[in-house]
Amino acid sequence: MPDLHSHLTPAVTFVGAGPGAAAHLTLGAFRALQEAEVVIHDRLVGDEVLALIPAAALRIDMGKEGFGPSAAQQAINAALVAHAMAGRRVVRLKGGDCGIFGRLDEEMEALEAAGLPFRILPGVTSASAAAAAIGQSLTRRGRNAALRIVTGHDMAGFAEQDWRGLAREGEVAAIYMGKKSARFIQGRLMMHGANPATPVALVENASRPDQRILAATLATLPEAARDLSGPAVILYGLAPRAAALAATELNEARA
Ligand SMILES: C[S@@+](CC[C@H](N)C(=O)[O-])C[C@H]1O[C@@H](n2cnc3c(N)ncnc32)[C@H](O)[C@@H]1O
Repeated sequence: MPDLHSHLTPAVTFVGAGPGAAAHLTLGAFRALQEAEVVIHDRLVGDEVLALIPAAALRIDMGKEGFGPSAAQQAINAALVAHAMAGRRVVRLKGGDCGIFGRLDEEMEALEAAGLPFRILPGVTSASAAAAAIGQSLTRRGRNAALRIVTGHDMAGFAEQDWRGLAREGEVAAIYMGKKSARFIQGRLMMHGANPATPVALVENASRPDQRILAATLATLPEAARDLSGPAVILYGLAPRAAALAATELNEARA
């Protein structure tokens, strides 16, 4: 397999695990997992992907709750450096794509500071899986020539975005980590003139067996978000295709 990042043998491979289903794992990611001696993974990596980690590999779950985000980040950096320094083949497994809201930079910088080479294998981000689940494309000729990937909150609290731009007709945004800020997002968009009837699709546990699709509008977004319990992407400006929605209802009826 070609080395995708560096001419040096990587000590650490950052691997995007995709949103949950093993079917969304790339072949490169699968091979890296098979060759790993240590796998350090996050909370949002799906069970199907975790099941592919070889039994002989040391598996470290860094997603356990109980310590604050910065302490957790320091612990992850330290574990990456320590195992790579010891000469083990390390895979750092992150949910979705490692370069989207994945704190990849902090970890790359820790490795660089220690003089350790790494490579990055991208993964399917949850917005792609969510759009596929609702049977829509994220961009469409004549509707939106740009896609915004935004977070509902950042280190400072609710995240400010270009609400005026997003409020225009036909805009599409994939909102990550938006459950708690749904009312804030609604308020900001309406303040900038967004149509309350703008379609919104909420996709929870995208690509997993418990995937759920909720159809809402900007007017009903906060109520719909209250109903979410798992990780979800809010697709602003997109409605589920009738067929995709019917499939979810069928699955729920079967459950
Ligand atoms: C810290 S971000 C990580 C994003 C990840 N790197 C990616 O590319 O999907 C966590 C957020 O991603 C979204 N997410 C992750 N997995 C998901 C899934 N299977 N279904 C829906 N949303 C998901 C949720 O918005 C969640 O709050």
